[in-house]
Amino acid sequence: MKLLEEKIRQDGNAVNEHILKVDSFINHQVDPALMQEMGKEIAEHFRGRGITKVATIESSGISPALMTALALEVPMVILKKQPSKILNQDLYQTVVTSFTKETNYELTLSKKFMTAEDHVLLVDDFLANGEAATAAIRLIRMSHATIAGLGVLIEKSFQPGREKLKSQGIEVYALARIGKMEENYIEFID
Ligand code: G4P
Repeated sequence: MKLLEEKIRQDGNAVNEHILKVDSFINHQVDPALMQEMGKEIAEHFRGRGITKVATIESSGISPALMTALALEVPMVILKKQPSKILNQDLYQTVVTSFTKETNYELTLSKKFMTAEDHVLLVDDFLANGEAATAAIRLIRMSHATIAGLGVLIEKSFQPGREKLKSQGIEVYALARIGKMEENYIEFID
């Protein structure tokens, strides 16, 4: 998506070869008009596939997921990061390992909000190693819902996320794909 690539070039900050900061328009301060356009673009790509819900992982995935859900006219479900606690019969739970943040956390989903009747589109801001997305899919599948695919704003294509998801049969649609980064340098791929 040209609009996003231009915005990344203008306001993004490639800190080093691994980390892109987009906190002035995606994950700290949010540009609502751009977010709405991006949500519409993801929705258009997946439209007509019987999607009943859009799911995301808190917190930075919420803005793009909400805009996608709005365009598809379906509810959005937030997979919550909650501290590990005693087994709760009303929740599905799984553990996520984040390489970027070097932590483990528990992801939870209320059984009320996802069932075998659902066909779910997962949306997130970044695809890096694909650990978060893999855990989200594992969690959604616990409810016997099916997965329509993953829509992300920014894919760091030099990390293994896309391959990891492809090997699980998940289609990935990314609005901007970064092939290479260095300090103050970003290379997009089509
Ligand atoms: P994965 O989710 O693709 O496996 O990647 P990883 O575990 O490495 O990512 C962990 C967190 O780091 C995720 O946010 C992800 O969005 C974020 N992240 C990964 N690469 C970048 C990057 O280049 N720039 C920025 N700004 N963030 C990146 P999270 O833990 O889910 O936190 P939140 O931001 O959603 O609250």
